[in-house]
Amino acid sequence: MDDDIATLRSTSLAGIAAASDLRALDETRVSLLGKAGTLTRLLKELGRAAPEQHRARGAHLNHLRDDLTEALDSRRVILEEAAIAARLVSERIDITLPPPPEPAGSLHPISRTLDEMAAIFGAMGFAVAEGPDIETDWHNFSALNIPSHHPARDDHDTFYLPGIAGGSPRVLRTHTSPVQIRTMLTQAPPIRVIVPGRTFRADHDATHSPLFHQCEGLVIDRNITLAHLKGCLIDFLRAFFDLATLPVRFRASYFPFTEPSMEVDIGWNRKTGEIGAGGDWLEILGSGMVHPNVLANTGIDPREWQGFAFGMGVERVTMLKHGIPDLRPFYDSDLRWLRHYAFSPLLPAMLHEGGGA
Ligand code: PHE
Repeated sequence: MDDDIATLRSTSLAGIAAASDLRALDETRVSLLGKAGTLTRLLKELGRAAPEQHRARGAHLNHLRDDLTEALDSRRVILEEAAIAARLVSERIDITLPPPPEPAGSLHPISRTLDEMAAIFGAMGFAVAEGPDIETDWHNFSALNIPSHHPARDDHDTFYLPGIAGGSPRVLRTHTSPVQIRTMLTQAPPIRVIVPGRTFRADHDATHSPLFHQCEGLVIDRNITLAHLKGCLIDFLRAFFDLATLPVRFRASYFPFTEPSMEVDIGWNRKTGEIGAGGDWLEILGSGMVHPNVLANTGIDPREWQGFAFGMGVERVTMLKHGIPDLRPFYDSDLRWLRHYAFSPLLPAMLHEGGGA
């Protein structure tokens, strides 16, 4: 009696247990309990059985349906868990793998030189000061003892901007010296600053760019002499060019804002470009003792305080230090040039104290 039910039970349970994924399990479910499923069909055929068999067979079939439903459910839970576990394994991120290399940027030689200047002067106790690119005529010229119609103004090829600021025409600063004025106006002496920054002159050829960079220096204290100026600049130049024996020469010159004024030359070989050898001289910066008028213009008493100032072209010393022959590519953003001359941002600006020769 009901052999077919017993057979169906064992084959169905075996089929459910053998379903290897959720899809196969669902197919098994449909083949048993779906509209045209085996068990569904047997339940429908129940009406045709003899009445005395009807009750017992019905109970067996219902019992089988409950057991199969339960078996399907528990198999489904197992397969779902297995599916999630498989996904977790296949989607796991291996955080121990090194990241793919990223394209690294580099430091423009100008930035590199400014970093080196800040490192060398920083070790001597200088702080970095900054000022605006758009200056007043007063800060850029008058306060620096260059009154209107002074011939020194002609050397500067000034870009004038429309408008007046504080009663004074606006200019693109032609040198970093106006930041001397701004510093002395806002800071009580003693003062020790360098001023790296952009400067502008209406001049454009192979060795001049309308935008270039300077680094200014200003020291104001009591009892500052020309000897301090010389010692400071000789130390700086020997550290910057990493050459303890670098010859340095001071030559009398003229700037309206310093008195006395000196141009500073370093020894090099004109033919080979080698720095420090060869018996030729190359002008590299302007300097002098701050003019008493400039101190007075900023409210500092020249009988009590004095000091020195200097200014140099950043492109020029960069070209010399690294043997870069042409000024123009500095501003071209040509990646081939940058790959050749730029610096790793991870390379710290070295302080060659006392020079490395
Ligand atoms: N400002 C001068 C220039 O641009 C350089 C300089 C600065 C000279 C400070 C003396 C003192 O040429």
